[in-house]
Amino acid sequence: VTRRVRRGVGWTLILGDAITWLRAEPAARFDGLVTDPPYSSGGFTRGDRTLDPQKKYRQSGSLEYAATFDGDNRDQRSFTVWASIWLAEAHRVVRPGAPACVFSDWRQLPATTDAFQVGGFVWRGVAPWCKANASRPQKGRFRSDAEFVVCSRGAMALDRAAPVLRGSWNVAPVHSSRRVHLTEKPVDVMREIVRIVPRRGTVLDPFAGSGSTGVACLLEGRAFVGVEHNPDHFRTAAERLRRTETEIAARRRP
Ligand SMILES: C[S@@+](CC[C@H](N)C(=O)[O-])C[C@H]1O[C@@H](n2cnc3c(N)ncnc32)[C@H](O)[C@@H]1O
Repeated sequence: VTRRVRRGVGWTLILGDAITWLRAEPAARFDGLVTDPPYSSGGFTRGDRTLDPQKKYRQSGSLEYAATFDGDNRDQRSFTVWASIWLAEAHRVVRPGAPACVFSDWRQLPATTDAFQVGGFVWRGVAPWCKANASRPQKGRFRSDAEFVVCSRGAMALDRAAPVLRGSWNVAPVHSSRRVHLTEKPVDVMREIVRIVPRRGTVLDPFAGSGSTGVACLLEGRAFVGVEHNPDHFRTAAERLRRTETEIAARRRP
């Protein structure tokens, strides 16, 4: 059930469950999907995965913010089914051929690419976000130094006004002492990604978290619609979007 909506110039944020909200939306409304859903990842065993995200993803020295988030404890099969359901709804509400970019980590990449295609998107590649050696080192092992964006670019006209975009990003994560969300994505990475959606197009993020996709959209001249079911993150995202809107307006003033 949708309980609250915040709006500003070029953005709308909804407090509610993604699937419930998506099901009530008309078809072909959005120009692109850019989202970072809960990964239901972390650890090696089913027991590891069911830990609170605060325990799974929090690093020492991070801010003492209270908000964890839920929806991150599914086992492999239920994660795949759940992701297939929301991706099918997301596929219905974006325009035919619109780009879709969905984050995953290495562990959930196979499940995510399966669900992506079950949902109806044509899988066209994986773009890595490399964390510039910022992840925790593990002696004798490769660093887990990347997350991945599963991409679809449907039948978009190649002669449309669009720049050549990078296919990987080498950007350090937001430092844990400044993070306002446990799994916050750097705005610089999100700015590169949302540019796949045409200027002035509307980007959908059904798992908005602290609103990084939305901030990137405003900075890149795209409109944004986000859904977040955690009231703390909803409030944080609304504040960030409002602040970004004000900063952009101030810059435009002579
Ligand atoms: C990985 S985080 C997104 C973080 C975001 N990219 C950022 O930079 O802040 C996923 C978010 O999805 C939210 N979420 C989980 N299940 C949801 C659902 N069913 N409907 C809406 N939001 C959900 C969680 O509360 C969490 O904030």
